[in-house]
Amino acid sequence: MGDFFDELRRRDFSRLDDLGHVYLDYTGAGLYAESQVRAHSDYLCHTVLGNPHSRNPTSQAATLKVEEAREKVLAFFNADPEAYEVVFTLNASGALKLVAEAYPWEPGVQFLLTADNHNSVNGIREYAAARGAEVRYVPMGRELRVADLEAHLTCQDCNKPNLFAFPAQSNFSGVKHPLEWIETARAHGYHTLLDAAAFVPTNRLDLGRCTPDFVCLSFYKMFGFPTGVGALLARRNVLGELNRPWFSGGTVRFVSAQNPVFLPHITGRGYEDGTPNYLGIAAAAAGLDYIGEIGVERINAHVMALTAVLLERLRALAHTNGAPVVRIYGPEGMERRGGTIAFNLLDAEGELVDFRIVEQRANEASISIRTGFFCNPGAAEFAFDYHDEEAFRCISTMTAESFTLQQFSDCMGDHAVGAVRASLGIASNEADIARLCEALATFRDADASVRLTPVAELATID
Ligand SMILES: Cc1ncc(COP(=O)(O)O)c(C=O)c1O
Repeated sequence: MGDFFDELRRRDFSRLDDLGHVYLDYTGAGLYAESQVRAHSDYLCHTVLGNPHSRNPTSQAATLKVEEAREKVLAFFNADPEAYEVVFTLNASGALKLVAEAYPWEPGVQFLLTADNHNSVNGIREYAAARGAEVRYVPMGRELRVADLEAHLTCQDCNKPNLFAFPAQSNFSGVKHPLEWIETARAHGYHTLLDAAAFVPTNRLDLGRCTPDFVCLSFYKMFGFPTGVGALLARRNVLGELNRPWFSGGTVRFVSAQNPVFLPHITGRGYEDGTPNYLGIAAAAAGLDYIGEIGVERINAHVMALTAVLLERLRALAHTNGAPVVRIYGPEGMERRGGTIAFNLLDAEGELVDFRIVEQRANEASISIRTGFFCNPGAAEFAFDYHDEEAFRCISTMTAESFTLQQFSDCMGDHAVGAVRASLGIASNEADIARLCEALATFRDADASVRLTPVAELATID
């Protein structure tokens, strides 16, 4: 296994070592293989593609490419073409917004979501609440997992549509939430929106075995290139229950300006506003071939083996007095988790190290990690043990203009206001892990000067 991925790194990701980068932000974005880019460039240089909304030869060639890509997406996820539509979007957030704006929200409808969710899922609540639906969060328990989902799957009016949203894998803690929830939710009268953005880069999503009503993803997270293409996979029968709030070029079969009538496309095209990113979509199809040839299971085994190494090395980091250097949020072991690890460092007295100083040292060593809340405030609030009233008191003193992390931190006292995230992927190796741990080891026996102090300034928290 090691040999295969060593060779792959030499062949397709040599820029990492040539430029001295340690890349540990795969949950932020995957890295593209150099051969993917060369193949796409070659393809573009030897084809002529026009806007797919016409009928001329170059347009037909583009249409064919987009339709081939749609079939490839269905095949990659083993989705029944009779049951699922593929809608190409800008990214996972674009896919989520399509559901948010078209779901039949009204009083009596429930929007249930796990506290562990990306902000692009959290944002759906604004559409839901604005139209009178009830929004409820499922709290997180031990290891940032949900203890008892069924207790929350109640409905006000079980004859109305209800929506439950959760991530297949947390972009905060790496926790894998059970895909069995999809059937449980269905049995309780809920549609399910599965956020697969952080899951599909290293796990097989088999839509023949689990059948969420909606799935969102971004292709750059799976294989780095292209950016700007994502997908919504939606079950046809549920798509028919949605109400798009508008139409646009590309989504309609007929529109009259004289009369207030329009006939939408009844396929996924009815959700693709304007000209699709047909060149990007072609590259996304090639990206699926690329990771398909390597094998998602093989990528998973590689990433899981490295995750075990990283977890062990993080747990082993200790101060001279024996106190741990690292506090991990979420599972410390390998069970039901992916290759994303969130943590904070502690000084020798067990006080939190300022995550911005950790980031600074990582940056100086050309190590790319992520810090902050990772756009997942719910997981962060449970990880950092916030009391909602206290946090509300702190946040309500600030406005969008006046907010600073420092002010929030000062108000929150001893609570963390951000963490560090390392995430592994296809091109990761043990040398990357060693370089990260070397940088973290510089905090061994650190004194109080690395604690969160009211001096540094950072304008955002995300
Ligand atoms: C779990 C999860 N969902 C959704 C998103 C949003 O993806 P995008 O920014 O590509 O729309 C992300 C991005 O980090 C994510 O990790």
